[in-house]
Order: sequence, then structure tokens, then C-alpha cells
Amino acid sequence: MRGADARSEQMYDLELKDVELHFGGLVVLNRVSLGVRSGELLALIGPNGAGKTSIFNCISGIYRPSGQIDFLGTSLIGKKPSAIAEMGIGRTFQHAELIPRMNVRENLLVARHNHLKATLAEQWLRLPSARREEAEHLAVVNVVLEMLSLTHLAHLPVGGLPFGIQKIIGFGRALVAEPKVLLMDEPSAGLTQEEREELAYHIDAAKKQLGIPMLWIEHDMEMVAAIADRIHVLDYGRSIGDGPPDEVLDNPEVVRAYLGTTQLTLAGADVAAPQEERVTPV
Ligand SMILES: Nc1ncnc2c1ncn2[C@@H]1O[C@H](COP(=O)(O)OP(=O)(O)OP(=O)(O)O)[C@@H](O)[C@H]1O
Ligand SMILES: [Mg+2]
Repeated sequence: MRGADARSEQMYDLELKDVELHFGGLVVLNRVSLGVRSGELLALIGPNGAGKTSIFNCISGIYRPSGQIDFLGTSLIGKKPSAIAEMGIGRTFQHAELIPRMNVRENLLVARHNHLKATLAEQWLRLPSARREEAEHLAVVNVVLEMLSLTHLAHLPVGGLPFGIQKIIGFGRALVAEPKVLLMDEPSAGLTQEEREELAYHIDAAKKQLGIPMLWIEHDMEMVAAIADRIHVLDYGRSIGDGPPDEVLDNPEVVRAYLGTTQLTLAGADVAAPQEERVTPV
């Protein structure tokens, strides 16, 4: 496994060490250790039920694992989900939670709510502090619209826009909160090939522009091979690989773990059933 030496471990912004999670007798995560650095896109892959989403739920404070989870040197273990979100851990959701009748810009402004510092009274009275804050929110939203090539659509209600665009708006909702690390759970689910390529372009561009660490659960190995800096592989709650895409996707154990769970050809192994569409938040 990479990152085993002390120096590279210190460079991780977000790090899990020996994380273990049980549900009754079921071992969901078995001493999982992984880390993601600033400006790095780490893909988390593995067959259905491997424990990928559970890792996100542990980081977000929804599940209570044993072991260590550190973010910028602070332990997340035992913290409430709200406190963890406030520390700057952002998450995209599979169903983008957009408000269909609102336009694109308004949807992003709503997502800035957790940044609102002015009190309700200040906003009502339109005190200078509240007006300044409004202007600041709008400026951030406009930067994100520009970054995601959405400016020309900003005035349109999201309900009438194609699904692929809605996914990009969902990605934008996570970005306007100015996360210090971003967790993405299968953001490409339900997209066409062309829409996936578009989304991959924006994920890659946002990573380069913002320089934040990103942890990305993905079943589409073509996307992963195209833009991930590194891949971590889970199988039955256990880490079975970590390294650069070409190395990991060539690893026979990884190919074996995927047999029967993906349509893609991995290192020459042609395999079966399509991924089901997920309905849980990502
Ligand atoms: N709240 C829970 N209660 C009981 N079992 C759970 C719970 N959450 C997850 N599990 C179990 O933990 C295992 C890992 O689930 P998880 O959702 O993390 O997998 P995953 O890798 O995200 O799979 P997928 O690719 O299908 O999304 C599964 O066996 C799942 O049934
Ligand atoms: Mg999952």
C-alpha cells in the first residue's frame, strides 16, 4: 500500500486509520486505512456492499466506527454530523436535492445558507452587515456558475433542464459551501456516456482550480482511469489495493473482486451485471 511511510501520511488532509465498523455480527469495515491529500482526487472503488458509502457515513459522523479519522489534524471521532459539516467536509448527493421551480442561481444561493452569519433580524432590517453578506454569497455563486459553465443557464428553472445538467448543478451546490474536502458518492449514476464525460471534465477542473482533496466513489472505471490521481479498492470491508489507476486496475485481485459486479472490462476480464440505480443520498 502507498502512503505507508510516516512522511507521506503526514501530508494527508483527511486520514482514516484502522477504521472498523460492525452492524450486529456483520463486519462492514475491517481495519480500513486510507488518506487523501490537498489537490488529490482519490477514487474509492469496490463491488456493491464493499463498504464505500459506509466510509462516507463514518467520516460524516453518521456512523460511529472505532479507529481514527483525522481531518487537518483534528479527530472527527465522536463529533456530531453538524459539527463535522461545519469543519468544511462537503458531500454531494445522488439526487441533487434541487428545487425544480427555482432557477439555477437561486438553487446555488439556497446551498449557501449554512454560510449565513447575519441574524434574521439583521436580514429583515437589511442592516449593512446582512447586505454585505448577501453580496458575498452572490459573488461566490457567480464564481461557481462560471467555473461549471452554467452562467448562461443561471436564470432558468432547474426542473426543465436535462438530468446531466442537474447533476452538475448538484455538484455546484456542494462547491458553493466552499468545502475543505469533498466527498462524492457515485455522482455519475444515471448519466449517459456524454453526460459522464462532461461531469468528469468539471470534477477534474474544479479539483485543479480549488486544490481541495476529493474522495470519489465511482463504479465507472473509464471515468476513474481518466481523472483519478489514485485509487483505493475495498472488498467486503477490507482494503485490497491503493495506488495509481493503471497499477490498481491491472491488479488481478482487484479484477477478481469486480467479477460479476460491473459491465466494464477490467484488465481484459469481461464481466456481468449492470449497477442498479441508487436511491440513497451520495
Ligand atoms: N445502517 C446499516 N445497517 C445495517 N447494515 C448496513 C448499514 N449500512 C450499511 N450496511 C451494510 O454494510 C455493507 C456495506 O454497505 P455500503 O452501503 O457501505 O456498501 P457500498 O460499497 O456503498 O455498496 P454500493 O456500491 O452498492 O453502494 C452492506 O452489507 C450493507 O448492507
Ligand atoms: Mg454505496
